[in-house]
Amino acid sequence: MSSRRSDCLVMGTGIAGLSFALKAAERGRVNIVAKNLACDTNTNLAQGGIAAAMGDDDRLELHVEDTLKSGCGLSHLDTVEIVVDDGPKMIEELEELGVPFSMAAADPKRPEMGREGGHSRRRIVHAKDMTGQAVQKVLAEKALAHPNITVFEFHLALDLILETGPDGAARAVGAWVLNRETGAVSDFFAKAVVLATGGSGKVYLYTTNPDGATGDGLAMGWRAGARAANMEFVQFHPTCLFHPKRTNFLISEAVRGEGGTLVTREGLSVMRDHPDGDLARRDEVALAIDAEMKRSGAPCVFLDITQKDPDFIRNRFPKIHDTCLGLGLDITREPIPVVPAAHYQCGGLLVDTWSRTSLPGLYAIGEVACTGLHGANRLASNSLLEALVMADRAVDAASEDSRLAPEPVCSEAVWPTGRLGQAPSEAVLITHSWDEIRRFMWNYVGLVRSDHRLRLASARLRMVQAEIEEFFRRFEVDADLIEVRNIAVVADLIIRSAASRRESRGLHFSLDWPERDDVRFKKDTVLVNPLPSVLLSQAEGT
Ligand code: SIN
Repeated sequence: MSSRRSDCLVMGTGIAGLSFALKAAERGRVNIVAKNLACDTNTNLAQGGIAAAMGDDDRLELHVEDTLKSGCGLSHLDTVEIVVDDGPKMIEELEELGVPFSMAAADPKRPEMGREGGHSRRRIVHAKDMTGQAVQKVLAEKALAHPNITVFEFHLALDLILETGPDGAARAVGAWVLNRETGAVSDFFAKAVVLATGGSGKVYLYTTNPDGATGDGLAMGWRAGARAANMEFVQFHPTCLFHPKRTNFLISEAVRGEGGTLVTREGLSVMRDHPDGDLARRDEVALAIDAEMKRSGAPCVFLDITQKDPDFIRNRFPKIHDTCLGLGLDITREPIPVVPAAHYQCGGLLVDTWSRTSLPGLYAIGEVACTGLHGANRLASNSLLEALVMADRAVDAASEDSRLAPEPVCSEAVWPTGRLGQAPSEAVLITHSWDEIRRFMWNYVGLVRSDHRLRLASARLRMVQAEIEEFFRRFEVDADLIEVRNIAVVADLIIRSAASRRESRGLHFSLDWPERDDVRFKKDTVLVNPLPSVLLSQAEGT
């Protein structure tokens, strides 16, 4: 078998992709493509932790209740129960793999529980403020050493490969993948194709996400005909560091969980009018900060944790403390300047409770998927948990479906490369397109929206997208072109979903439709691509 043929092809090496791969590798061969180094993921940056109802005063029902409340009426009860119920088991599995969670001082055999907004109990299992890094390191080491797993680093998938079966239905059987080091595009085939590519924070000018968060899997799945849902619900984290030298550094919600308060330059509490104060839901805190900044004209607000003991701060938040100190800010003595920034995509490719998308052969796990857990607003630290549980279920689904699926024909299709060769000097237009999209998305499709702003964004996007598609058709592809093409698809899905939701709910706030309207809109926004554009391989005999 060619090294590019496997039982499962996984795109993405965050917590979802790696935990899927490690379990799937017990049943067959797994290829993983990573656009950068395997550890260069959004998971690696996650500070807060993994929500799991494991505290003495906690119960699964309370975690379910908090998740539903945060989701503002759109979370799916079946998914919420599945994910929450499996929480403690997932934590135990990670502990067995060797993830070094912070342990309770009173009982060093049990994880210490952190607190974040929207949770009625302390239930965030964490490794100080570097939870993602601790998980990523262990999973990546295991995957890289596994005899049944091959990780292709610096490989970027650009489109899915479909086959039509005897019944005429399309099925995902692989992906076209760019080797970023050689520039060659090759076909990777598998019986199960798994998107675990993470989110799309880079669609906005300011984000806590790493550069790779360009919605690649979402865009590929959409182009191939998989349904997308709830893309209007983009979560803006209330507290991204406001500093010219470090624009995407997150200040974890756990800082507020441990007593940090949001204040204006004059020392007035930003959350003074909310009954839950600084631990209100994330959408409410971000909107309150935005309103305060607009009212005062100040470029940021401040997160003040100086009332806590300096040793506690240094020990509980070493990453935040050291990063800020490196920028000349001692958080044990000074408040931290913060602003909201795009953080998490609550929508994504619509999946069932087994991570199957609407396209046979294609699975989506982690941030790229819309499982129904988050509804209109994700509860803090529920996403790493969701990735673990849904990856676990995807392994069973993929293995069961593959047993029944026809062997992919793997016809040696040739990527229609060459075209007009290398993009000419106008390639700089791609950078301009990228900047333009991120800027108008920030200005018109950010925390506060209106029908007029959405129309403006849509008109601009149409022009930019036409330019990008023309480039894509005419010239050799490179990572920049692939990513900006994907960003444009994501922007389009966000704008269209936002325009169709004529109410305000959770993370979607419209000046024209400020009220929640349960009669017309207590439902998911589901988008269907009427013209899937990828069908590159044809099964024999059809
Ligand atoms: C944080 O640490 O505030 C981020 C946690 C999350 O987004 O779930």
